[in-house]
Amino acid sequence: MIRVTVLTLTTMLMVTAVSMRADPPGARRRDASWTAPSDASSRHNPLASRPDVTTGGRKLFAQRCGACHGDDGRGSDRAPDLTATDVQTQSDGALFWKISSGNTRTGMPTFSFLPELQRWQLVMRVREVGRTP
Ligand code: HEC
Repeated sequence: MIRVTVLTLTTMLMVTAVSMRADPPGARRRDASWTAPSDASSRHNPLASRPDVTTGGRKLFAQRCGACHGDDGRGSDRAPDLTATDVQTQSDGALFWKISSGNTRTGMPTFSFLPELQRWQLVMRVREVGRTP
């Protein structure tokens, strides 16, 4: 009986170890096929010249996004790294669109319920985490 239990435990540990190794290291992988429509991507960020609004964005990000993306935006097993080049090279409009519409298929919630200016503040915060080494 004890031997069976030990054997079961060993097998479980081995399975866990193998499945952990199979996962990509670090943050969850992004969905490269999820792209913003071009009219959304070309939208102008009304806060682009207002770096002072980042403080509000920082607070909002910690409240609404940190649980998945991490307070520093570097991602977790729940959400991808927002400092990645593939994210940072997208336009402000594209990021705004993604934050607004979400991707229910992959677990990115929609934040269209937040006032537009707060969503632009979040875009500014995503830019800030991208600049932070
Ligand atoms: C419940 C977990 C969760 C929360 C909370 C969350 N996200 Fe996400 N987010 C995700 C997942 C999962 C993806 C990956 C979606 C994909 O690639 O299809 C994602 C993708 C994104 C992307 C697109 C990245 C890319 O690869 O193009 C942005 C931008 C983003 N999130 C910003 C935010 C912001 C800003 C907040 C807070 C307002 C937030 N997210 C809150 C889970 C979350």
